[in-house]
Amino acid sequence: MLKVENLEKDFNKNKVLKGVNLELREGEITVIVGPSGGGKTTLLRCISGLTTPDNGSIIIGDKYLYRNGKAASKKTEIEIRKNIGLVFQNFNLFPHMSVLENIAEAPRVVLGIQREEAEKRAKEILGFLGLSDKEKNYPFELSGGQKQRVAIGRALAMEPKLICFDEPTSALDPGLSGEVANLIKKLSLEKSMTVLIITHDMTFATQVADRILSMDKGVLKKEHMYMDKNPAVLIN
Ligand SMILES: Nc1ncnc2c1ncn2[C@@H]1O[C@H](COP(=O)(O)OP(=O)(O)OP(=O)(O)O)[C@@H](O)[C@H]1O
Ligand SMILES: [Mg+2]
Repeated sequence: MLKVENLEKDFNKNKVLKGVNLELREGEITVIVGPSGGGKTTLLRCISGLTTPDNGSIIIGDKYLYRNGKAASKKTEIEIRKNIGLVFQNFNLFPHMSVLENIAEAPRVVLGIQREEAEKRAKEILGFLGLSDKEKNYPFELSGGQKQRVAIGRALAMEPKLICFDEPTSALDPGLSGEVANLIKKLSLEKSMTVLIITHDMTFATQVADRILSMDKGVLKKEHMYMDKNPAVLIN
């Protein structure tokens, strides 16, 4: 589904990614943990197009987004990017839009879907997220966990094949991490999504992951910690 090969990134001579290799299989939930400043967010930003790598390759499906540091054409990039969703740490919801509008906006503007159809799909997503009763509310009227679910809904509305999360539980009460873990597992089980998560929260990591990788000083460790559990079992 996603392959990263020898990815490198410097910020003013500070080597942040030192040849990162990563492979994600379809439907798998991969978690990356590791010390602050290790390059985790930079890796996620390179994969989701917010940061340009200096060298290396990123392959989504069978298409190169970067090949040995050279970017694909704009047209190919846009085509590939539609398959990748990103949920930010601070949610980044549009404050002046209702929950329903937050979710329906990108499909209308980016994919050109008609308002009626986009809102119909947004309502389905809200149902899936257990937020049907909040569609008319504004972000300031929601709890942290509800905002997090709207942010996930916004990414889901684009129907990505790969969804990336940067610290999805950092703004939430510890008790809510199980809820987010269940929701993410539901995405992988019911929507066959491939999921990449960055977190500092080891409890959450072990709740949600099919495998956990660790990243330190710009290097993704080769040893993989595979979780010995049945992914179909949700946590209470
Ligand atoms: N836009 C930028 N300009 C300059 N330096 C940057 C930039 N973004 C990140 N860095 C540097 O790159 C290094 C890695 O940062 P990154 O955010 O990828 O780490 P991280 O592993 O996500 O850390 P954390 O766990 O604290 O979120 C840090 O030393 C950071 O200061
Ligand atoms: Mg980070």
